[in-house]
Amino acid sequence: MTRRSFLRAAAGLGLAAAVGCRRRATQLETDRADMGHDAGEPKGVFRPGEVWLDTDGRPIQAHGGGVLFDRGTYYWFGENKDAQTHSGFLRRADVVGVNCYSSTDLYTWKNEGLVLPAAADDPSHDLHPSRVVERPKVIYNERTGSYVMWMHIDTSDYQYARTGVAVAKSPTGPYEYRGSFQPNGADSRDMTVFKDDDGAAYLFHASEWNKTMYIARLSDEYLTVTGEYTRNFVGESREAPAVFKHDGRYYCITSGCTGWAPNPAQCAVSESAMGPWEPQGNPCVGSAEQVATTFHSQSTFVLPVHGRDGAFILMLDRWNPSNLGDSRYVWLPIEFQGERLNVRWRDSWDLSVFD
Ligand code: GAL
Repeated sequence: MTRRSFLRAAAGLGLAAAVGCRRRATQLETDRADMGHDAGEPKGVFRPGEVWLDTDGRPIQAHGGGVLFDRGTYYWFGENKDAQTHSGFLRRADVVGVNCYSSTDLYTWKNEGLVLPAAADDPSHDLHPSRVVERPKVIYNERTGSYVMWMHIDTSDYQYARTGVAVAKSPTGPYEYRGSFQPNGADSRDMTVFKDDDGAAYLFHASEWNKTMYIARLSDEYLTVTGEYTRNFVGESREAPAVFKHDGRYYCITSGCTGWAPNPAQCAVSESAMGPWEPQGNPCVGSAEQVATTFHSQSTFVLPVHGRDGAFILMLDRWNPSNLGDSRYVWLPIEFQGERLNVRWRDSWDLSVFD
C-alpha cells in the first residue's frame, strides 16, 4: 500500500481528520502538504454527534452555544457543563461558567478558557454554581468597541427567569458581569441575540412561561432593551431560538418545549427581525424519527460561514440528560429550496457542501 492510498483508506475509515481530532488532523494535513495535494482539498470534517476534541485533545465544552466571527477568527461561546449532573425533576449541572474556543477554519478549535467563570464564593450571585447559566451569545458593538454577552440566568428551579449581560474589550474576555433583569418586565428563559446588518440588535426570548417568544430591540450599546418588543408564536411554546438573515429575509428556527428531550423543530420567515413571522413548518428532512426529534437534538444557533454567500450551519445540541457534560454537538448545513430551508442528517461532511 502506498502512503497516499493508506491515507485515503484511513480517511475513509474515519481514522483521520475528525473535527477536533487536531493531532491526527494536523498530521494528515502535514502529510498531504508533503505530498503536494491540492490546496482546495478539505482540511477537516464535521462528525455530528461524536465527541469533538479541542486542539489540546480535550472534549469541547460549549453547549447551548453561539459563534461570533471577528477579524478573521470564529469564537465559539457556550456552557461549560463539565460538572456532575444532579438528578431530580429538573436535571442540571452546576455552573462552571462560559467557555470560549477560537478557530480560523471551523474544524479545529483552540480552548481560550473560561471567559466568564462561576462565582463560587457567593451563593447569592447569579453565577453561583447552584444557579443556571445557559445559552450565552456574544455580539460586537461598533459604537463602544465592546463584546457583549447575553445569557439566560436562572435559579435551579427555573423560577428566576432572567437575562444576564456581561461585557469585554476582547472577544476572549475576561467578561465583566453586569447583572440580570427581566426584559421589558417579562420572564425570560431560552434566548438568543441577533445583530442585523445595520447594527440594530434584538433579544429573542421565551416568555409568558415559555408560551410566547418575545423579540426585544436592544439599546444602541446592546446593554439593555429599549422598550420596543413584539410577541411572536403566541401560545405555541417555542424555545431554543436560532436566527439568521439571508437574501433580505429573516429566519427563525425553534424547538418545542420538552426540557432536555428532543422534539420537532419549526422554522419561520419574516421581512422584519421583529416579525410578523410566517410559519414554514419543520425544516428537517429524513426519516419520521429524525424529523420528529430534530436528529435527536435541539437548535442553538445558525452560523454564517464567512465569505460564502448562502452558507449557513445549523448548530444543535444533542443533550444527554443523565450526563449533561457529555452532550454532543450536531452541526448540519442548511440547504435552501427557494425560501424554504431543508436540513438533512449527515454522518460526516465538510465545507465543500457549500461549493
Ligand atoms: C430546555 C432548554 C435548555 C434547558 C433545559 C432545562 O428546554 O432549551 O436550554 O433550559 O430545557 O430543562
